[in-house]
Amino acid sequence: MSDRVSLKFGSLILDVPFFQAALSGYSDYNMRALARRHGCPFALTDVMLAKSMANPKVLAKPCFQPGDDEHPVGAQIMGRTPATMAKAARDLVAAGYDLIDLNFACPAPKVLRRRRGGALLAEPSALMDIVKAVQDVVDCPILMKLRIGFDSQPESLDCFWEIVTRSIEAGVDALVIHGRTVTQRYRGQADWDILATVKERFPDATIVGSGDIFDPAATVDLLKRTGLDGFIVARGAIGNPWIFRDLRAVWENHPIPAPPDLAEQRAIILEHFHRVLEGHHEKKAIGYFRKFMVNYARRHPKRKKLLIDFMLAADRAAVEAVIDTWYVDAYPGAD
Ligand SMILES: Cc1cc2nc3c(=O)[nH]c(=O)nc-3n(C[C@H](O)[C@H](O)[C@H](O)COP(=O)(O)O)c2cc1C
Repeated sequence: MSDRVSLKFGSLILDVPFFQAALSGYSDYNMRALARRHGCPFALTDVMLAKSMANPKVLAKPCFQPGDDEHPVGAQIMGRTPATMAKAARDLVAAGYDLIDLNFACPAPKVLRRRRGGALLAEPSALMDIVKAVQDVVDCPILMKLRIGFDSQPESLDCFWEIVTRSIEAGVDALVIHGRTVTQRYRGQADWDILATVKERFPDATIVGSGDIFDPAATVDLLKRTGLDGFIVARGAIGNPWIFRDLRAVWENHPIPAPPDLAEQRAIILEHFHRVLEGHHEKKAIGYFRKFMVNYARRHPKRKKLLIDFMLAADRAAVEAVIDTWYVDAYPGAD
């Protein structure tokens, strides 16, 4: 890794201006480890409910603990009560996390019903109470994950600007902003123009963009065009750790490496599957790994046929047999 500073959150320094996003149901230790191996300098956990983390037995579960070999790593938390969020932040830092990310972006209906996540974008003062409570108890860098408002009404935009202004004034280390509203969820294109406006209005603040990051060269262009400090890679990293290798190459002005061949894909897919097996019972591991496989398979010339086979595989040996069958040059139907 070079000693260049590309992105800085307080004391935490990254040598490239991107990292892996929080991805609920995906960004566990295994996905983070594979991303790191392919050039990702830092990654976030998927969102953890602050209230659950208050239970020491839950927090002690291996899935909530950072790996010894994965620093720096950030924990993302979500909740509504400032004291609960503060306790979760403090306990997660004590457990070894290097950074706390506050989720004010989640659009899931069950989250919004409890007025957590993205719902707080409509309540700037309640949101700021959480920020202050967390700042009071931890010394590590603090990020905030936002969307560009709750919905597209003018009042939502006013709340968004109030939150941006107040959190920067409060000294939050960086704002990570997804260029869609909460009600938009994942529909339409992310609006990077408004993200560029945030950076223009607050040039000294660290503003990290999110939304539709799939193409390495286009993303680095986008970053330069908008003047933002960095971006996070989310859906584009699922089943695709190579995106970090490619992004790093573009950022460092090297040619983008050749895409991974079937043998390289096979090795990573098998490793990922075996890692998942270590943490879950076989049946559960296979179900969980399917989500990743759907994305790994995107690179395969016979994606549909491979996935039909994969979905029928019911035990470890069958999954391995599918991978062995399709991830060789002489896969069924190869020309
Ligand atoms: C399956 C899935 C799970 C996500 N989980 C989280 C999460 O736990 N915390 C969070 O802040 N954002 C979460 N996001 C949002 C992403 O971090 C990111 O902001 C969003 O997907 C936009 O980036 P993209 O278009 O490049 O995927 C999730 C997105 C997806 C698709």
